[in-house]
Amino acid sequence: MAITSFISTASATSSTASMALFSLLVLILVLSSNCMDLESSHGRQVPRGDVDLLEFPLNLEYFEAELFLYASLGYGLDKVAPNLAMGGPSPVGARAANLGPLLKDIILQFALQEVGHLKAIKKTVKGFPRPLLNLSAASFATVMDKAFGYTLKPPFDPYANDINFLLASYLVPYVGLTGYVGANPKLHGAVSKRLVAGLLGVESGQDAVIRALLYERKAWDVKPYGITVVEFTNRMSEFRNKLGHDGLKDEGLIVPPNLGAEGKIKGNVLAGDKYSVAYDRTPEEILRIVYGSGDESVPGGFYPKGGNGRIARSHLRSA
Ligand SMILES: *[C@@H]1O[C@H](CO)[C@@H](O)[C@H](O)[C@H]1NC(C)=O
Repeated sequence: MAITSFISTASATSSTASMALFSLLVLILVLSSNCMDLESSHGRQVPRGDVDLLEFPLNLEYFEAELFLYASLGYGLDKVAPNLAMGGPSPVGARAANLGPLLKDIILQFALQEVGHLKAIKKTVKGFPRPLLNLSAASFATVMDKAFGYTLKPPFDPYANDINFLLASYLVPYVGLTGYVGANPKLHGAVSKRLVAGLLGVESGQDAVIRALLYERKAWDVKPYGITVVEFTNRMSEFRNKLGHDGLKDEGLIVPPNLGAEGKIKGNVLAGDKYSVAYDRTPEEILRIVYGSGDESVPGGFYPKGGNGRIARSHLRSA
């Protein structure tokens, strides 16, 4: 009796076990067929159509990480997180900026935030190697000269002091944030949308800090040019609008009141459309701006060999 009962319990257990195994197999089959068009090699499930849109911003995140790391520490990803560069070339011309303690502290925080952003994107999609970045003072000076339409003398040096570095930084997170706003409606997966919203939040915050610090100094003359901080921001924003070829998406610190919030105010500490909603940009508009060429198929500026990833490479004629 005892033996029979033992045997029947054992066989019940084994049939329960095989039922469980069978259900598990069915579940795996169902899951894997549902995930046919999902990129799951990185643990997170991302629809294939989202992958390029999530990878593209790495171009800007590499730029920001390197600029902010070098400015605050005097070295970049090669020392801080070499694996994140995925074998891409070291940036050209970046160096420690001559910053006061407050700005140095803030820029180091931004730098480490950008390292986090690189990790967050690469945790979700495979990503690509760091593109060649030209972060030389001359590269920023060229942008400023083009924005003013004449050669500033001496050449603008982003690394010279706080105000110059803030003006150079005015070029950076804002372009990233318009890209994230532009990418959002094109994404399909929940994981993709969550990631982009999270990146957008922090990029916008960085832009707000930079703009607020500049706004506080808006009437300052930038030495030795005798040009105010406001004028610099207005010229840079106009230049980006021109390069982007898609209308008004960039605004300086003081605008005609009809462009300010509710069409009623000239102070413009944050940029936004007539409803104070952030502007959006496509990857192509962003490439036209960061290449400084106004053409997504003509690399140059901060990206002498162009950006990486499917979207940027698809526009390069020789690629
Ligand atoms: C970096 O930009 C400056 C200014 O445009 C240029 O003179 C220099 O040749 C560039 N360096 C590289 C490696 O592209």
